[in-house]
Amino acid sequence: MAISSSWITAAFLALLVLSSSLPPSAAEGNDGEVKEPDTDPEAVAEPSFVITLDASNFSETVSKHDFIVVEFYAPWCGHCKKLAPEYEKAALVLSENDPPIALAKIDCNENVNKEIASKYEVRGFPTLKIFRNGGEDIQEYKGPREADGIVEYLSKQVGPASTEIKSTEDVDKVIVDKKISIVGIFPQFSGEEFETFIKVAEKLRSDYDFGHTSNAKLLPHGDETVKQPIVRLFKPFDELFVDFKDFQADAIEKFIESESMPIVTTYDNDPTNHPFLVKFFDSPNAKAMLFFNFSSDNYNTFKSKLHEVAKDYKGDNIKFLIGDLDASEMALKFFGLEKDQAPLIIIQDSKGHKYFQPNVTPEQIATWLKDYAVGGLEPYRKSESVPEVNNEPVKIVVAKSLQEIVFSSGKNVLLEFYAPWCGHCKKLAPILEEVAISFENDADVIIAKMDATKNDVPDEFAVQGYPTLYFVSASGKISQYEGNRTVEDFINFVNNNKDVISQPGSPDSVKDEL
Ligand SMILES: *[C@@H]1O[C@H](CO)[C@@H](O)[C@H](O)[C@H]1NC(C)=O
Ligand SMILES: *[C@@H]1O[C@H](CO)[C@@H](O)[C@H](O)[C@H]1NC(C)=O
Ligand SMILES: *[C@@H]1O[C@H](CO)[C@@H](O)[C@H](O)[C@H]1NC(C)=O
Repeated sequence: MAISSSWITAAFLALLVLSSSLPPSAAEGNDGEVKEPDTDPEAVAEPSFVITLDASNFSETVSKHDFIVVEFYAPWCGHCKKLAPEYEKAALVLSENDPPIALAKIDCNENVNKEIASKYEVRGFPTLKIFRNGGEDIQEYKGPREADGIVEYLSKQVGPASTEIKSTEDVDKVIVDKKISIVGIFPQFSGEEFETFIKVAEKLRSDYDFGHTSNAKLLPHGDETVKQPIVRLFKPFDELFVDFKDFQADAIEKFIESESMPIVTTYDNDPTNHPFLVKFFDSPNAKAMLFFNFSSDNYNTFKSKLHEVAKDYKGDNIKFLIGDLDASEMALKFFGLEKDQAPLIIIQDSKGHKYFQPNVTPEQIATWLKDYAVGGLEPYRKSESVPEVNNEPVKIVVAKSLQEIVFSSGKNVLLEFYAPWCGHCKKLAPILEEVAISFENDADVIIAKMDATKNDVPDEFAVQGYPTLYFVSASGKISQYEGNRTVEDFINFVNNNKDVISQPGSPDSVKDEL
């Protein structure tokens, strides 16, 4: 199930960090079930400076603007409600900007607008995008979410992509504390190299601050002897600045991407770390994450040991993170881990396989990583505990009991993967129960369910939405159930696909034990 596992890490964890809400279609897969709307829809005072868009006028409006920001939102999303008054305030201020900056919004909960949300790859709410040149260039809004921050970020976005640095005051505009900035140092502001730099700046301007100067002396760590032209990237971590001299656009972009990620990303409550955290979880690489209490005495030892290891693996496809227990509750929950297992280290590789070591000491980190690198670790699988009582018609399967009940039982198993919050799953529950009751006297058949949010789904099953049903025949043949979800259809399907194994009249022993 490589595809959906990596989707989960990439998108879901990044969203957890941002605390955005998942769009219902992404959360619920093919069914596209809509979450219950809140009783209190987004309340914005009239008159509004935010332009309301819908499917009928979206393209037309965007095409008329050189620069317009669109918020994709859902009325039930808490973070959208929090943003609304700030966005409104910013819209008022920005309407008086020179040139005026338009802010718009589109309600993605409306069925007619869902196609637009999907076209622009909206994965969580709220999502803000900047449309330039009548919608020809689209960039993700990466700025703050309060009025002053929105105004400041967007005013910068309408100006030139790269700011000329002529004085120390200009330096402060470009090189901002805790952020990544990129400055090109050129003998003159023309020629192929300069133009390439500006092109890259235009492409990446919503992510980073760009500047250019002919006076290297003005820059932090600057000296006059620097050989021009050169690209210098400033970062709030590790070596603080890095130089680059290859003026191919692709090469510059790659340089910026790789140098703008810390050797070890920090997961704590400091919001200035969040952009780096989102980048970490969005990265397709394997991820090694060390979680412990940052207030503990051996904070520095843990940190420096992990840095040492991370440096050894720089260039390999593995990224490192250090997480404070106080901040990373959601991540721990996501991996099915407990605080009392900390200090703990967990790796999730690019295929979604996990490796886990609880109660790790600083000294063990390097050895454990080496064991991982040579393939010497057993994968870890998130699981609920095996229930002591399992005598309902529909049997409970957890990751730990999957082998026993589904693969080694010698039975035909119809297995539902569900999520507790999923409405279609709730609707299916009494139907499955009826199906299970009708097979109670058939020793060859088990109807079962697994909570796929609390148990890792193994590679054999692809689960992209809930509910997903699979049938595993007694001989081990796996097929996805794609029929209608009626009692009759389920029963017919099982009867048509099951392998008959028990002797007529044999006692129903294994089933009774479950
Ligand atoms: C787009 O259409 C909606 C619904 O008819 C309307 O409320 C909104 O004002 C329109 N927006 C623009 C910019 O025309
Ligand atoms: C971390 O350690 C501090 C000091 O020992 C303690 O007060 C705090 O409760 C701990 N936090 C967690 C999440 O265990
Ligand atoms: C499901 O039901 C619909 C109508 O109720 C029917 O048209 C369709 O063929 C059924 N599909 C299957 C796989 O039985």
